[in-house]
Amino acid sequence: MKIVIGADHGGYALKEVVKTHLLEQGYEVVDKGTDSGTVSVDYPDYGRAVAEAVAAGEAPFGIVICGTGIGISMAANKVPGIRAALCTDPYMARMAREHNDAQILAMGGRVVGPGLAVAIVDAFFAAEFQGGRHARRVGKIAAIERDHCGTR
Ligand code: RB5
Repeated sequence: MKIVIGADHGGYALKEVVKTHLLEQGYEVVDKGTDSGTVSVDYPDYGRAVAEAVAAGEAPFGIVICGTGIGISMAANKVPGIRAALCTDPYMARMAREHNDAQILAMGGRVVGPGLAVAIVDAFFAAEFQGGRHARRVGKIAAIERDHCGTR
């Protein structure tokens, strides 16, 4: 399975850890940057790149990382159809898939350490959307987007 990943300077180091882990697990990884390490860049550029790739069908899932995970998840969630979930533990990651059908996992490189981050990633990809009442609720998120953004 293909996964798109992106991070700003605050998430760069964790992106590299997560990328290595995903490759070891047999995933194909498309890295949208940053490639410039700790050089300061703007998190919306990377949240947007990953979210647009997922929305366009380049990959079914994405991972975005900034310092806190807040700004980059906000940016990703502005792309129509995208549900990016900021997770700080494996339970949140499982729920993000099972209940919210999130396609994008967001994390904070200055919030979670590498071991916890890998556990979050594994929980996210081990879980499946449960549908049913959760599909109705996710549909209502799409309705908000449709009513306010004139899309989908
Ligand atoms: C960059 O210093 C920092 O603001 C960014 O990585 C992120 O935490 C924003 O939400």
